[in-house]
Parts: sequence; structure tokens; C-alpha cells
Amino acid sequence: MTATAEVAVIGGSGFYSFLDDAEQHTVSTPYGEPSGPVSVGSVAGRRVAFLPRHGGHHEFPPHRIPYRANAWALRALGVRQILAPCAVGSLRPELGPGSVVVPDQLVDRTQARVQSFVETGACHVPFADPYCERLGDSVQQSAPDVVRGGAMVVVEGPRFSTRAESQSYAAQGWSLVNMTGHPEAVLAREMLQCYTPIALVTDLDAGVEAGAGVSQEEVFALFAQNLERLRTMLADTIAALPDPDGCSCSGWAQGVELTYALP
Ligand code: ADE
Repeated sequence: MTATAEVAVIGGSGFYSFLDDAEQHTVSTPYGEPSGPVSVGSVAGRRVAFLPRHGGHHEFPPHRIPYRANAWALRALGVRQILAPCAVGSLRPELGPGSVVVPDQLVDRTQARVQSFVETGACHVPFADPYCERLGDSVQQSAPDVVRGGAMVVVEGPRFSTRAESQSYAAQGWSLVNMTGHPEAVLAREMLQCYTPIALVTDLDAGVEAGAGVSQEEVFALFAQNLERLRTMLADTIAALPDPDGCSCSGWAQGVELTYALP
């Protein structure tokens, strides 16, 4: 099958469009409707799909995003590499608002999300290293000021963390807190796709600084201020992407009996 798109960008809060002259694809999946139609266009000679994870008008709060339908829809279009910009709170004073981080670890503190396509049988997906290092290298090549590494804890939301929760995450040595990074990453691994978050720090989380705590306004304002920077970074990264063939993000499935279907 010829892929409609090879690469996808999943847009976060405040990031609802990316491509000029895009075709719209409405994709139905066994898991319901994705967050919206998927736009497909060209960037740096690559066919790129764009899906705003919260929907085109931010209809889906983090705990209601149709994560499985989104992952399935992108794979059905042929996508093998996913760049996932997202807004994050920082748990470290040295990572201030405006920092862009490519974390290398994920901690799941969500509570009520279906996080797998596996419904039957023995099929255990390797996830020690949740993100594609090669995609991270491409991000860093396109934007040398990007910070590499650190753990992102994903909370259920939609509320922000209490000060005590935030302090406990920081005390664990974790760097970032976010509401959407899980199960997006593990579903991409099950769909045999390379995936990396590109985390834009929008605020210092409640435990890091004294004061009123995090507000939605500051998160959206910071994201909006950095949108053009993110778009440029994404376009440059897409131009620098490696061949997905031979990556362990898909190679893990060789010789493994997958008990779920791929589109
Ligand atoms: N997204 C952006 N800022 C956040 C924070 N402080 N906590 C959780 N998710 C976030």
C-alpha cells in the first residue's frame, strides 16, 4: 500500500493547524472517531499528517482524548514517525518557561485511560525506552538549544497538580509534568511507530515556586508565544528525519505474535 503520509505531527494545546494546502482525511476506526479529520500536506518533500490531539476547537480535555482512535487513524494513513509537541509544566527551576525539552523517560500517573490495543493473549510491549532516540537526534539537529533527557510524569488531569504532588514528583528526580503524553507514546509503540515528544515548558509547576500555582491562561499564552518557533523547529526536524527502517521502535515486533491487528 502506498502511504498517504509517512510522518505525523500531533498538535497540543493552542496548536490546531500546521500545513498549507492540506487535504482533509476523515478516518473511521474500530475505536471510534479520532480527535478530528487528519490534514495531510507536504513539508520538506515529505508527506506529513497533522492531527490536533484536543480537536480543532479544543473539544477534548486530556482525559477524554480518543487516544486509540488517533493512533489507529495515523497508522491507517501510513504514518511511521510521529513528532508530538506538547505543553508541559517544569519541575526544575533551571528549566524555565520557553525551554524546549525532548525527555527520554515517561512516568504514568494517569488513572482511567485505556492504554493498549492488546485485548487478548500474551503480548507484552517493550517500553523501557519509551521514545525514539533517532527522532530526538533530528529535533536536536534542527534546534541545538533543545534540552535532551529527563523524565516526564503524565497526570490524569484536567486539574493541575497540588503543591505536595508537584514536590513529590520533583523529589523523585523527574523533570516535567504533562497531561497527554500517556498513552499516546505506548500506543505509537504498539502501532510500530517512532515517536518523540517535543515538550514546551509553559510554566513552573506548583511545587517549584511560591505563588498562585499554575493557571490555564499562562499555559495557553506561553504556548501561543512560541507557536511560530515550534512550527519552524518541526519543519526543520522533518527535513532531517532518518529512514524509519531498522529502528527498534518497529523492530521489537519481529518474531513476536501481535494479538491485535494493525490497520
Ligand atoms: N501542561 C502544561 N503545564 C502543565 C502543568 N503544570 N501540569 C500538567 N500539565 C501541564
